[in-house]
Amino acid sequence: MRRLAAPDIAERKGKTPIVCLTAYTAPMAELLDEACDLLLVGDSVGMVIHGLPNTVGVTLEMMILHGQAVMRGSRRAMVVIDMPFGSYEGSAQEAYANAARLMKETGAQAVKVESGPTVADTIDYLVKRGVPVMGHVGLRPQAVLVDGGFKAKGKGADERARILEEAKATAAAGAFALVVEGVAEGLAREITEAVSVPTIGIGASAGCDGQILVTDDMLGLFDWTPKFVRRYADLRGEILRAVEAYAQDVQARRFPGPAEIYFAKAV
Ligand code: KIV
Repeated sequence: MRRLAAPDIAERKGKTPIVCLTAYTAPMAELLDEACDLLLVGDSVGMVIHGLPNTVGVTLEMMILHGQAVMRGSRRAMVVIDMPFGSYEGSAQEAYANAARLMKETGAQAVKVESGPTVADTIDYLVKRGVPVMGHVGLRPQAVLVDGGFKAKGKGADERARILEEAKATAAAGAFALVVEGVAEGLAREITEAVSVPTIGIGASAGCDGQILVTDDMLGLFDWTPKFVRRYADLRGEILRAVEAYAQDVQARRFPGPAEIYFAKAV
């Protein structure tokens, strides 16, 4: 089975919507692989799996370990790996060295960078040297300390125009697709019409070429999720019920039972 790659995703612009989810572990990647076109090893791993308050503390080494796990668990979906904060903003050369390391050590097909005002030149540098790049505009989680929180973007005319320009610059620099996060429907549609590559929305309406969610959010693993998340399951409730049942069985000596123990051979 051939794995999907950047050109397969790029050519879906304006066609059937592109299905994307985040993945951080091999067993979850295996479960998601068949239904998803693209699995993102997002730096949200820092918050979702490692309990960090934001993504700023995520390291290249963390991304490599989770990237390797997701590649082992999946066979068909394209795997994109986030470049963490501090690994691409300093210079295009440093970004290239870190992107090459991520790709060599994980086997992922592309990297994602948050496309702030200074990043288009770096995307151009990476793409010209053989690194497929996905951009990310609108709410940029790595800018949380500058922004003072995770806030929807593009509400005012100036910010709206800036985000549209960043999206156009990211696509013009050679990104094969663009995550559009936390913007109103009008801006998401404007970006989608303005760029020739697919837009992948998260909290950005159905006006994008595809959608992505943090898997653990949509599976209902947390007691709180942002407004834009639809919870397709209540795994938190299921886990709490299962753990409570296990605890009661252990305390009452109902577990393990005869079917769950080993017997010595008769001599
Ligand atoms: O890190 C991440 O999970 C992301 C998605 C929210 C798009 O960037």
